[in-house]
Amino acid sequence: MQDIIQELERRRGAARLGGGERRIATQHAKGKLTARERLELLFDEGSFEEWDMFVEHDSHDFGMDAQRIPGDGVVIGHGLVNGRRIFAFSQDFTVFGGSLSAAHARKICKVMDQAMQVGAPVVGLNDSGGARIQEGVASLAGYADVFQRNVLASGVIPQVSLVMGPCAGGAVYSPAMTDFIFMVKDSSYMFVTGPEVVKTVTHEEVTQEELGGALTHTGRSGVADLAFEDDVDALLRLREFLGYLPASNREAPPLRPTNDPADRPEPALDRLVPANPNRPYDILELISRVVDEGEFFELQPEFARNIVTGFARFDGAPAGIVANQPAVLAGCLDIDSSRKAARFVRFCDCFNIPVVTFVDVPGFLPGTAQEYGGIIRHGAKLLFAYAEATVPKVTLITRKAYGGAYDVMSSKHLRGDVNYAWPSAEIAVMGPEGAVEIIFRADRDDPGKMAARTEEYRTKFANPFVAGRLGFIDDVILPRNTRRRICGALAMLRGKRLENPWKKHGNIPL
Ligand code: HXC
Repeated sequence: MQDIIQELERRRGAARLGGGERRIATQHAKGKLTARERLELLFDEGSFEEWDMFVEHDSHDFGMDAQRIPGDGVVIGHGLVNGRRIFAFSQDFTVFGGSLSAAHARKICKVMDQAMQVGAPVVGLNDSGGARIQEGVASLAGYADVFQRNVLASGVIPQVSLVMGPCAGGAVYSPAMTDFIFMVKDSSYMFVTGPEVVKTVTHEEVTQEELGGALTHTGRSGVADLAFEDDVDALLRLREFLGYLPASNREAPPLRPTNDPADRPEPALDRLVPANPNRPYDILELISRVVDEGEFFELQPEFARNIVTGFARFDGAPAGIVANQPAVLAGCLDIDSSRKAARFVRFCDCFNIPVVTFVDVPGFLPGTAQEYGGIIRHGAKLLFAYAEATVPKVTLITRKAYGGAYDVMSSKHLRGDVNYAWPSAEIAVMGPEGAVEIIFRADRDDPGKMAARTEEYRTKFANPFVAGRLGFIDDVILPRNTRRRICGALAMLRGKRLENPWKKHGNIPL
């Protein structure tokens, strides 16, 4: 028996060494942790159970039969993150560059299948040179098997990707189909074709970092949700992030008791909206003052900054927050902000996370770039997402809610459950200046008359009471009481049940 135990230990030791000391040292020299070191940081101490440590590839070509490394470049298993079950795979760059063989793909599929059956999130730590070149189409088949599972798991269990090294070619499409993509600054990149191919085809000279680094994807393309400083920062933030998500679409998001009183007044909010309606203010200030302990996990903070998305808690219960940002593009809706918020609202709706919407929107951004770029279709995404969402929806109009954008932003008409407005709200077809330009065109050359008409329009419509009279606003609330009112609304809505008509699936304007 002693011999067998020793043999097991020897085999485990060999598997844990992955591609060997030299390659581990190279990984560390790049500022990166190994696949197993990453899992140790992600999971609660000692809770991770590894599976398939002894799996090897089954290829014989190009001398591969002489090169077999137990585990075959990916570590899979499950464990606890802050006491909650999470499944994970972590690609091991020290083993054949983390490249995906048929066996490697089978391991990822195994963990995804189990997570689906159990109803628990899957986290992928990506660090891979792509398809195992020695295996050819077997490797491509493996990718497709993973893609298929990504799609079937979508909306059933949360899927989160953390890209911690290379992720190129068709391999990008697995993270792309997960719910969130996080990246690590300076050490991760994602692109469909690398700088060399780009140079050959389009004659553009671009570095790897410029083409697909973390800053490119969090700021420019919007492919990634957040960029972290390094591996340790990324894994610790990921632990925090997972705390907002339910285990599956069958469960509610986890409660976290708080000492922050649900009825905490915030007198400073009475002064947040400037007297001049054209002056900006920072919507993040409102968010941080009303959520539990001021904690807001913002997503895509550098992309489409005219809309803010992220998770927070109200009286211990997670909620998704969507907010127009008057400090950027006056909070207008445009193509990118519509796409960003639509995807976020749909995630929340999949996973029973209430949506709290803060509205200060002068309308859709005008211009040829927007029209030619398809703002009609992209704007419709956000409208569609809000309209189909059946989770609790609480909306607060702080200032402007004009035109179609008023309808879109979780209005009563799109089944908003509780719709509040501050006294400073202006709810109308358009702003007073624009309205008067159109309906009193004949007086255009008379500045005195125009000023009087504008004032008349402002008094009549630029307030929350017309909407209030029609029941489109449930109540006009004092800014200082915002936290209490939102916590109360969400508590009331905890038992909400609403179902859309049966269908195979809708046809969101993609
Ligand atoms: C097999 C691979 C590999 C791969 C890397 N390695 N990529 N082995 N298949 N795809 C091996 C290397 O041979 C090397 O082995 C070790 O991993 C580390 O690689 P290095 O090149 O030394 O590392 P580095 O300098 O950091 O460069 C990393 C890299 C480079 C940029 C990822 O390795 C690279 O360009 N690899 C090929 C990428 C690629 O073209 N992949 C296929 C893309 S197509 P040793 O033994 O020397 O340590 C694709 C299609 C997917 O993925 C389609 C899905 C539908």
